[in-house]
Amino acid sequence: MESKAGPSCRLVFCLLISAAVLRPGLGWYTVNSAYGDTIIMPCRLDVPQNLMFGKWKYEKPDGSPVFIAFRSSTKKSVQYDDVPEYKDRLSLSENYTLSISNARISDEKRFVCMLVTEDNVFEAPTIVKVFKQPSKPEIVSKAPFLETEQLKKLGDCISKDSYPDGNITWYRNGKVLQPLEGVVVLIFKKQMDPVTQLYTMTSSLEYKATKTDIQMPFTCSVMYYGPSGQKTLQSEQAIFDIYYPTEQVTIQVLPSKNAIKEGDNITLTCLGNGNPPPEEFLFYLPGQPEGIRSSNTYTLTDVRRNATGDYKCSLIDKKSMIASTAITVHYLDLSLNPSGEVTKQIGDALPVSCTISASRNATVVWMKDNIRLRSSPSFSSLHYQDAGNYVCETALQEVEGLRKRESLTLIVEGKPQIKMTKKTDPSGLSKTIICHVEGFPKPAIQWTITGSGSVINQERTWLKEKF
Ligand SMILES: *[C@@H]1O[C@H](CO)[C@@H](O)[C@H](O)[C@H]1NC(C)=O
Ligand SMILES: *[C@@H]1O[C@H](CO)[C@@H](O)[C@H](O)[C@H]1NC(C)=O
Ligand SMILES: *[C@@H]1O[C@H](CO)[C@@H](O)[C@H](O)[C@H]1NC(C)=O
Ligand SMILES: *[C@@H]1O[C@H](CO)[C@@H](O)[C@H](O)[C@H]1NC(C)=O
Ligand SMILES: *[C@@H]1O[C@H](CO)[C@@H](O)[C@H](O)[C@H]1NC(C)=O
Repeated sequence: MESKAGPSCRLVFCLLISAAVLRPGLGWYTVNSAYGDTIIMPCRLDVPQNLMFGKWKYEKPDGSPVFIAFRSSTKKSVQYDDVPEYKDRLSLSENYTLSISNARISDEKRFVCMLVTEDNVFEAPTIVKVFKQPSKPEIVSKAPFLETEQLKKLGDCISKDSYPDGNITWYRNGKVLQPLEGVVVLIFKKQMDPVTQLYTMTSSLEYKATKTDIQMPFTCSVMYYGPSGQKTLQSEQAIFDIYYPTEQVTIQVLPSKNAIKEGDNITLTCLGNGNPPPEEFLFYLPGQPEGIRSSNTYTLTDVRRNATGDYKCSLIDKKSMIASTAITVHYLDLSLNPSGEVTKQIGDALPVSCTISASRNATVVWMKDNIRLRSSPSFSSLHYQDAGNYVCETALQEVEGLRKRESLTLIVEGKPQIKMTKKTDPSGLSKTIICHVEGFPKPAIQWTITGSGSVINQERTWLKEKF
């Protein structure tokens, strides 16, 4: 089937002719195909009248030909050569267009269509280019978090199965990340699958974060060649948790600082503004240089006035990062002397004192039988009307719930005093004798009559309280 040795010089001449005629200007005729598609190569020669057969071959890197398809013009038959690479993938149509299904990277070759007549061989070469769009780039092996002032691996940007190979670019907030020593370190790697000859590109990014990277989106892109030129595919965004150290510690007190009183439970809460926030602190109680290690809260129960003082908390590993607060435990003591139930004789003297001791100014209020007194009571000589229920009460206005009261129940006793008055009725028939008895407890009154006559007895009790 080879053309005869004779016209070999003519063959070269033909090639030159066809090169000059069919490809004016630059380069070879090229067919671009997508990976996996069918490559369609028209023969690009006018079919001569006396055509015997058409043939397709490709050229090996060393230039030697490999014949793959044959179509006889006279017998209208097609034959494919036994080339394993092209088994069941070829189709040579009547107009000598060759189709290769399922395009592979290894199909990137120079193919030649040959039309052979009795005395001539016409050839037309075609270059096949295959393109494979890579997978959408993905950021993988992502760091669970980044740390300020530390160069850490952020992740790998990977884009698979590209042909030809492409470039990977990283972006922070949409801006290209350029390599910068110690801050942005990029390591690019490409690998070719030996079977498919497709490239997988990986770019590792090591990055030194700052607090400005909080909520910043990182992306990457792959730039690759398609049949019509360079194209780009973008990855999804990745946002990283940025760890940074505490720069300030604060201490909070519950209940609110000016409302702490004896008996309260005080909860100190310590906060650090780092990320993640510190979980443990040292708490310093007044006058104690050694800190107590605790979670971020520390509770003092049932505090007394001696708990007044400066409270501090610091980081465990950096004790200079410290916060302090002054706490006053308010108190209010009231002592009433005498108190409780006191029984006195009329005319007795009774000094009464109600003294207070408090963390703030407090005023005393006196009540007698629920009526407010203008001044504190003091008795140089007791009267019956001095008896009653006295209450001495005080409160710290600033501190809710801090109030005290004590009471004194005063009983004034006295021997009965008798006063008699007589009245004679104008008619002269009867006399009224009034016996006026004053005393406490209530005296019992008894009449004794000597002689005869009838008596109408009437008794009335007067409770003297006021004049
Ligand atoms: C050759 O034939 C195929 C189908 O047989 C057709 O699709 C194609 O357009 C033809 N090409 C030319 C250049 O005539
Ligand atoms: C890759 O990057 C280089 C240099 O930046 C550039 O010249 C080249 O065209 C790029 N290749 C692709 C496939 O984008
Ligand atoms: C203080 O805390 C204790 C439990 O630790 C609780 O029994 C008590 O009621 C609390 N006192 C106040 C005033 O909340
Ligand atoms: C405070 O006083 C109470 C008694 O009122 C005592 O039990 C406690 O130990 C004292 N606390 C301090 C820190 O001195
Ligand atoms: C508390 O008492 C002092 C002196 O006794 C007085 O100067 C001060 O004004 C008082 N404060 C209040 C809030 O009443």
